[in-house]
Amino acid sequence: MEKLPIIIDCDPGQDDAIALLLAMSCTDELDILGITTVAGNVQLDLTTRNARLMCDIAGRDDIVVYAGCEKPLERQLVTAEKVHGKTGIDGIPIVEPRAMLGQAHAVDFIIEALLGVTDAPITLVLMGPLTNIATAFAKEPAIRNGVAEVVLMGGAMREGGNISPSAEFNILVDPQAADRVFRSGVPITVMGLDATHQVLSTKERRDRLRAIGSEPGRAAAAMLDFYNKFDSAKYGSNGAPLHDPCTVAYLLKPELFQGKRCNLSVETQSELTIGHTSVDFWHVTDRPPNVNWIHTVDANGFYDLLFEGLSRYGNA
Ligand code: RIB
Ligand code: CA
Repeated sequence: MEKLPIIIDCDPGQDDAIALLLAMSCTDELDILGITTVAGNVQLDLTTRNARLMCDIAGRDDIVVYAGCEKPLERQLVTAEKVHGKTGIDGIPIVEPRAMLGQAHAVDFIIEALLGVTDAPITLVLMGPLTNIATAFAKEPAIRNGVAEVVLMGGAMREGGNISPSAEFNILVDPQAADRVFRSGVPITVMGLDATHQVLSTKERRDRLRAIGSEPGRAAAAMLDFYNKFDSAKYGSNGAPLHDPCTVAYLLKPELFQGKRCNLSVETQSELTIGHTSVDFWHVTDRPPNVNWIHTVDANGFYDLLFEGLSRYGNA
């Protein structure tokens, strides 16, 4: 199997962090060209530090992290410390990261990488507000030709919103950026809350992660123990939804996911429903399909994949 060239854009956040650990364990399947960070769950300096820390935990000193946009295109930044804690990855000790911090701005790194595509277009794996990608598309529209696919976590249909009654966090933080991405014409697969709320980090699953016996396994379990609290209490569920790793799992084992082509449009005007993703699942409008909307996930298969990936790090 040819390695899939990818760029991961994220706002760690415990779920982003676990997605990074999973992706970085897949050295045979994924060629991570770089990790870019954006302000979202916490401020940009913290999301960037957190991504670098994951590279350290994964032992991937070959991967460079590039810091991106520190605020949305038009709106004021909204962060989510109440979910993720002040560090963004509460649950594990914070130390000074060693991983390389790229000198280029994330947007310029993304543009250069996509313009440099010769024969293998790049898959963009997006796990936070879409500010970096939207800025890159606007600055250099030709880069869209270098995109194989966008696989992103964001939006909601039947699940309703998690940051407002109508909107999911990644989209609400920067609805103008999201609108640009969904109108860009590139192939997009969307893991909305309808999908990610099917993969709950139950105690059994967290304990299974802990038993892996490696630093990445222990770190993932410890982060989930903290991350689990807010959503479990909010939803009265047996575990918090593990949003962002769904994007990486889709690259590795797409058969775990079922989707449907339909139109997704973003509300950018109404203050009441700003960031709402209007998903025309039943094709009741003439809006052209622009996404593969994931609606069903094999949750046990997802966690088996996550355990298998994190177990590759060995026991240490
Ligand atoms: O709504 C969930 C999304 O918002 C996840 O990507 C989480 O990390 C936060 O960024
Ligand atoms: Ca995220």
